[in-house]
Amino acid sequence: MKTALVAGGAGFIGSHLCEYLLGQGYRVYAIDSLVTGRRINIEHLLANPNFSWIEHDIVAPLYMNVPCDEIYNLASPASPVDFEKIPIFILKTAAIGHMNLLNWAKMNKARILFASTSEVYGDPLEHPQKETYLGNVNCIGHRGCYDEAKRYGEAISMAFRRQYGIETRIVRIFNTYGPRMRPEDGRVIPNFFTQGLSGKPFTIYGDGKQTRSLCYVSDLVEGLHKLMLSDVADPVNVGNPDEYTILEIAKSVAAACGAQFKTEFMPLPPSDPKQRRPDITRAKELLNWSPKISLKEGFVKTLDYFKSSL
Ligand SMILES: NC(=O)c1ccc[n+]([C@@H]2O[C@H](COP(=O)([O-])OP(=O)(O)OC[C@H]3O[C@@H](n4cnc5c(N)ncnc54)[C@H](O)[C@@H]3O)[C@@H](O)[C@H]2O)c1
Repeated sequence: MKTALVAGGAGFIGSHLCEYLLGQGYRVYAIDSLVTGRRINIEHLLANPNFSWIEHDIVAPLYMNVPCDEIYNLASPASPVDFEKIPIFILKTAAIGHMNLLNWAKMNKARILFASTSEVYGDPLEHPQKETYLGNVNCIGHRGCYDEAKRYGEAISMAFRRQYGIETRIVRIFNTYGPRMRPEDGRVIPNFFTQGLSGKPFTIYGDGKQTRSLCYVSDLVEGLHKLMLSDVADPVNVGNPDEYTILEIAKSVAAACGAQFKTEFMPLPPSDPKQRRPDITRAKELLNWSPKISLKEGFVKTLDYFKSSL
């Protein structure tokens, strides 16, 4: 039986990954400080004898006498609300926290996957974004704490690989959505579902013509696992290349919720990316991965969750 450690395991994506790995026959340890995650996300897994959960901040060193095959580092606050509130913690989590996990991987001869982000491309001047694009990040902007934290996480992963021969993996995750997102998270999908279900106008920042590509969480999790099992050391984009404007997304959420489509326009936040769409050729060719769940299908699954959590 393989053992996996999932840092950030009580978060939105992390909890789905724990569930998936248990389904694949893994022994799973979830580590989470609950800074943005929630115990309720993993409560249903606690009775499983192959699942353990440890409340721990990865910024502090981790002492566990457990051999480990795979480490998935998903631990990081990821919402723009957090960028304003806890920017230093975000930087420390990628710099010190990820280094602690890399050292753990070195000790255990484990593979380690770092959850990076499409934000490493900043406000991209190349569209769609290929992994070879070096990005257009404003390091001193409001999103700089997150974008640079992730860029550093990638850099230190490669440094451990080059210096110590550690089996590192880097995934650049594009916008992902689904059940277990925090309703108050501040990201576009929780905002729209909360507004649609409570009959409030949809908040549109800017003119709503900026684009996003949305990947359903089960597709993403499969991509993370495929990347871990592969021998691909270079970063891989994992996301859904179907691209929609924010206005189109708001209209689709309104339709899913059966809500009247009313809007409230607000100024565009600083450094908000204008376009987001992954080029997933690398994931297709090297991992044989591509997303399966359409936006419509994903919204139906997500609606049930937001209905029950509001
Ligand atoms: N959801 C997306 O669209 C998206 C897009 C790009 C990248 N990502 C990345 O994927 C990962 C998971 O994101 P998510 O959307 O599930 O967010 P999330 O906030 O739901 O999950 C992150 C989890 O990490 C935990 N955490 C944060 N800092 C920690 C620390 N120092 N020690 C221990 N635990 C810590 C949080 O409590 C939370 O449970 C993050 O690394 C994020 O940057 C997500």
